[in-house]
Amino acid sequence: MSIQGTKTKSLFQKAKAVMPHGVNSNFRYWGDDDTLVISRGEGAYVWDADGKRYIDYRLGFGPIILGHAYPAVVKRVQEAIQEGTVFAWTTPGEIELCERITRMCKVDKVRLTNTGTEATMHALRIARAYTGREKFIKFEGQYHGMADYFMFSTASSNPSSLGSTRSPINSPNTSGIPKGITQYVINLPFNNFERLESTIHAQWGDIAAIFVEPILGNAASIMPLPGYLEKMRELCDKYGIVLVFDEVKTGFRIANGGAQDYFNIQADLVTYAKSLGNGFPIAAIAGKEDVMMTIQPGAMAHGGTYSGNVVGTAAAIATLEILETEPIIKTINQRGNALMTGFGEILTEAGIPHTVTGVPSMFGMVLGIEQEPHDFRDYFKGDGELYEEIAMELIHRGVQPDADAREPWFLCYALSDDDVNETLNIFNDSVKAAKHQH
Ligand SMILES: Cc1ncc(COP(=O)(O)O)c(C=O)c1O
Repeated sequence: MSIQGTKTKSLFQKAKAVMPHGVNSNFRYWGDDDTLVISRGEGAYVWDADGKRYIDYRLGFGPIILGHAYPAVVKRVQEAIQEGTVFAWTTPGEIELCERITRMCKVDKVRLTNTGTEATMHALRIARAYTGREKFIKFEGQYHGMADYFMFSTASSNPSSLGSTRSPINSPNTSGIPKGITQYVINLPFNNFERLESTIHAQWGDIAAIFVEPILGNAASIMPLPGYLEKMRELCDKYGIVLVFDEVKTGFRIANGGAQDYFNIQADLVTYAKSLGNGFPIAAIAGKEDVMMTIQPGAMAHGGTYSGNVVGTAAAIATLEILETEPIIKTINQRGNALMTGFGEILTEAGIPHTVTGVPSMFGMVLGIEQEPHDFRDYFKGDGELYEEIAMELIHRGVQPDADAREPWFLCYALSDDDVNETLNIFNDSVKAAKHQH
């Protein structure tokens, strides 16, 4: 049964007439019968074109940390844009925002940009310029945006395309990447200490950076094993490699200071986007003084017409101010814990083996296995089909997680205890319905 109502169906036909597959990002296409058209959002809810309300756990793929159309953020943006939006000069707002980021994230310097893709692209260039080296390490199942260099062995890859763990294959996620690019990319299985050490021992002179999502925000929020991020830090220090935490999903979500704060490890460079602006387009590249100061007019480029524009900057100032002054993450974590525990109990009761992964503000569930997955390959030991069936039952009943178990459940501050209870009840019904059909 399609999740599209009549109005949604007809709007989606119009969308297909003017946009490839009716969407402006491939990740939003769920098939001709299951792609939604959303008319509005408020707090923890979104409404589709037929007026159906959903408790939203996709939250635009993570950016909504406070709630949709959060009044204090909207107001700040409305006020700010009365006075213009781009000037090609520094604004007082940019200074205020970068001061906040340096304080919250314990970084020395910040450059603003607009999207996660831009942030990681610039971070890679900075790391290469800083080290004079060209290759970089990333991990299977991690997604760092749409730039060619990163589009190998991401969360969209088929596990059978990844080769052996002893010598992983860079599996391209798209046509259109020039053949030569792959020589600069080293994909490794996450949480494998031995592979990381042996690769760096053999090739450190060529390796500019390690890019890592500290929690696998695109693969069911798989957690790093104790000591793994510390090992990266140690190896990067020893061999002069730039450690880049891609905090596009974890930043300003798992803690006020993101994964650096949560795991108590400082990277050399960090990329932020999503929760930084509570849904407005704003991103940042931040990090240590000497690495960030590689950026130099005339020598090492970073730029962008809309970098630090008034809209995103005002939204981010308002969002960070609220994060710094109210118990946002603490409240989200309480509700997330209730969901993680409740889902676990319901699945146990239904006799479905499972493991609940990640942290309360962005957690995942892998069904069909009890053993916590430690890398992207482990994730595929789970039953993604059963998960999708449960997710579709949830969506029919007005609770909206992603149908793909790789995408975490995201929580926002506007989610109430009542929403949590409603979600648990609907989850219970959905599990029963899906189990019945499976
Ligand atoms: C970890 C990570 N890095 C980078 C990106 C790219 O960000 P954007 O979609 O804003 O370009 C994403 C997007 O989901 C992400 O999850």
